Amino acid sequence: MDYKELVAGALANVLEGSLSKEEIYNLVEKPKNADHGDLAFPCFTLAKALRKSPVAIAQELAEKIDGADFDGVLAIGPYINFRLNRQVVASNVLEEIHEKGEAYGSSNIGQGGNVTIDMSSPNIAKPFSMGHLRSTVIGNAIANLMAKAGYNPIKINHLGDWGTQFGKLIVAYKLWGTPEEVKADPIKELLRLYVKFHEEAEIHPELEDEGRLWFKKLEDGDEEAQELWTWFKDESMKEFNRVYDMLDVKFDHNTGESFYNDKMQEVIDILKDKGLLKVNRGAHIVELDKYDLNPALIMKTNGSTLYITRDLATALYRNRTFNFVQSLYVVGSEQANHFKQLKAVLNEMGFEKSKDMHHIEFGLITLGGKKLSTRKGKIVLLEQVLKDSVALAKKQIEEKNPNLENKDEVAHQVGVGAVVFHDLKNDRRNNFDFNLEEVVQFEGETGPYVQYTYARTQSILEKAKGLKIENETYELSDDYSWSVIKLLENYPNITKLAVEKYEPSIIAKYVINLAQAFNKYYANSKILVEDQALYARLRLVEATATVIKDGLGLLGVHAPKEM
Ligand code: ARG
Repeated sequence: MDYKELVAGALANVLEGSLSKEEIYNLVEKPKNADHGDLAFPCFTLAKALRKSPVAIAQELAEKIDGADFDGVLAIGPYINFRLNRQVVASNVLEEIHEKGEAYGSSNIGQGGNVTIDMSSPNIAKPFSMGHLRSTVIGNAIANLMAKAGYNPIKINHLGDWGTQFGKLIVAYKLWGTPEEVKADPIKELLRLYVKFHEEAEIHPELEDEGRLWFKKLEDGDEEAQELWTWFKDESMKEFNRVYDMLDVKFDHNTGESFYNDKMQEVIDILKDKGLLKVNRGAHIVELDKYDLNPALIMKTNGSTLYITRDLATALYRNRTFNFVQSLYVVGSEQANHFKQLKAVLNEMGFEKSKDMHHIEFGLITLGGKKLSTRKGKIVLLEQVLKDSVALAKKQIEEKNPNLENKDEVAHQVGVGAVVFHDLKNDRRNNFDFNLEEVVQFEGETGPYVQYTYARTQSILEKAKGLKIENETYELSDDYSWSVIKLLENYPNITKLAVEKYEPSIIAKYVINLAQAFNKYYANSKILVEDQALYARLRLVEATATVIKDGLGLLGVHAPKEM
């Protein structure tokens, strides 16, 4: 039920054509002050046509409107305020949620269209960074949101498993590495080798040439190079998969940059055919002056390809394979220029779908106000953060609910949920400083607070099982339940908005509001009493539970029944 529509209809009946129903509809808004009413119509636009002051118009119209569908119609200043019929709304919303369950709030805007989501995409032989955590959890939430809106999300882990750095790594390993050391602690050792390479290369620049040479060998399929690279990659994947398991994130495809090694010739050919490829000191570039961008470097002097070359091939491949309606790249804002170049080159190539490619950027995580840097060893070890958070959750459970059956499972869901929720609750473009104590906060506007509210609904519903329900009406009219109902009613708009803006924080903020409104209701009413309105109150609890669980689910956070 669309209540704006109801208000617009009532207004259209008395306005006799001065404005179309659609125009009226678009003007209806929520009053800033909820005490004034649930919906309001500003009369400014009518002043000219009716040659009266908006205040006078509001007065007159408010008297004329048929109030039968409303709990009140009241002019306040230049606004006509409408109070919706609480029982009618309560019954509509709660019935709908009861019937639809977790399908409430979903739509078919996407009509099954494929949306590729390039997400996570860590670089092998390096630790899984906080930036990659952001890409993973934001990408995962966006995939869930797209599915909720009727799209078919395709989650792709575009692993950074190709490029000159692997030539350098091979050189470093051959000079200073041993199989035993790599096996013992793969990423740590590979990182050590990589850092050592850069230190040594300062003194012996010829190492850089060695590195380039070995990458060229790798590109050309040299057996030794291939073997080492595959090994480094497998070891890295083992570590990354531990993180994905903890986060409970799954991918549809793990096609990284190396997958495109044999698919770049097509790009080079199109660029050549169209006369776009210019040779500049032996390197091949595409000039992008007319986009106000630096030239894109497509091929190095020795014939090696670059990050962007692989992304060009990737775009063509994804369109051919998935015929996407949208292609999303969940990557930090620092790569904004890269994605502008990518789209510009594709546009030059005549690739029309470039307009459906979107860089879903997100802000930087800093540490003590400074940028994290793998090379300088300034890193936050994500796995450790998750483990610390889980340990803290376990401690709290031990204190508050020592008899809980599946303590470890719940501690895991709460601890990991805290980290994920913390990442998602702010607008994705915002930068934030990493602070472990803040991440593992369980009170205030946090994931565990919302999870705790869900657990509360479950315990209420459990206790209600023995009670006798007298009638099935919706006699709810107090302000506390009304706040909850209005929020529940708005959930479909919220999911829609979050999809349009690719913004999981809209959902996170919403579930916090819902949890807070519900807890106020809980604190101010007796729910488990056998009276006229018991049925309505239990439906309210149930609906809140359904929507919180679904909202958390969209964010990739579990909702344990007890904690
Ligand atoms: N591996 C890259 C990095 O860590 C991110 C890849 C993003 N995806 C893409 N198609 N370029 O910086």
